[in-house]
Amino acid sequence: MTRKELRIGLFGYGCVGRGLHDVLENSRGIKAEIVRICVKDRSKERRLPMSFFTFDKNEILNDSSINLVVELINDPEEAFSIVKQAMESGKGVVTANKVMVATHLEELVRLQQENKVALLYEASAGASIPIIRNLEEYYDNELLHSLRGILNGTTNYILTLMHNEGKDFASALREAQEKGFAEKDPGLDVDGWDAKYKLCIIAAHAYGLFLNPEEVFHYGIGKISGNDIQYAKEKGYKIKLVPYVGKTDEQTITGFVLPRFVSPDKYLYNVDHENNGVITEAAFAEKQFFAGKGAGGHPTGSAVLSDISANSYGYRYEYKKNIQGTVRNYTRDHEIEIYLRYHDEKERELFRFSNITEFHSNHTYRYVIGTVNLKYLYSLRKELPGMDVFIVATGRKADQVRA
Ligand code: HSE
Repeated sequence: MTRKELRIGLFGYGCVGRGLHDVLENSRGIKAEIVRICVKDRSKERRLPMSFFTFDKNEILNDSSINLVVELINDPEEAFSIVKQAMESGKGVVTANKVMVATHLEELVRLQQENKVALLYEASAGASIPIIRNLEEYYDNELLHSLRGILNGTTNYILTLMHNEGKDFASALREAQEKGFAEKDPGLDVDGWDAKYKLCIIAAHAYGLFLNPEEVFHYGIGKISGNDIQYAKEKGYKIKLVPYVGKTDEQTITGFVLPRFVSPDKYLYNVDHENNGVITEAAFAEKQFFAGKGAGGHPTGSAVLSDISANSYGYRYEYKKNIQGTVRNYTRDHEIEIYLRYHDEKERELFRFSNITEFHSNHTYRYVIGTVNLKYLYSLRKELPGMDVFIVATGRKADQVRA
């Protein structure tokens, strides 16, 4: 196959943009050159001569000698407008913007078909872990039972420092920010949004269903307390933020993002700091485990580079499972076993527990373990941030708990 020479217009020169630049400079095999970089902030000192930079997106988008746009900015709506314009001008696009991809996926797929260009976004989920291309090329949705993992480096870094080193939440988050793992608004990481966007992108390639992120329940680690960490330690668990997507029947999947207790015999137990890990469970391949750095300039830059390279060979996602259409529905009518730390009995009642298996209450610490329905959790999503509770999935299947 012939390899196209790429002239790249880069949008954004933050942590990932600089990471990509370093990675590209150290890659011998690839015929790609960054010819222009569009940035927003005129006052920031840059490590390249100013002649590389522009503040006007049209200088890249209207330049017919540029055949690939690499989009690495923060603002998802501005990113979508850049990516749309680039594709409509016949340019290929590589992006790491999970919010943009997850919230506009259907339209982005249509734009690719209409303009006969490729949009690649491996770096948007799991950073350095090549999970999207693997799901796209390797797994058949009929045989893929489920996928779960750690997809947010910042929360994993915070949880690792709290658990292993006894650090408090605020200083652990500060460290994650200093290392360049966190989003500009760290609430996106801490409250589970980032993991949810990544889960939605992954679901499109695992099952061919374009989930609306609004429809998917997410809950983060913002309300975790010393009591929760202590409980986990006493049981020999770690708490990890674990997005899940899996089949409930032949045509239906469910999915959600929740903190989860992870025991030492599980692959995810040793996925610490900013590392991410993904576990797939399939009918015949059985359990498989992918792990690697999930955040940071160089690991994310390496995934962007891999997409640039794939683009030079003419690779594009075919969305085969979406075309096959085997999976057609998403459901929230799904039972899960959770640990709920709470303060007020009235708040506990809102969860409509069935089958309670453990209960504890003293002056300072109350919790209950039992089965709840995801649809009730989802209906509480707007109240949850104001409630004095913390939720962790136990990881046990609700039907096994009953048995
Ligand atoms: N803020 C993200 C994370 C960056 O912590 O995982 C990588 O997507």
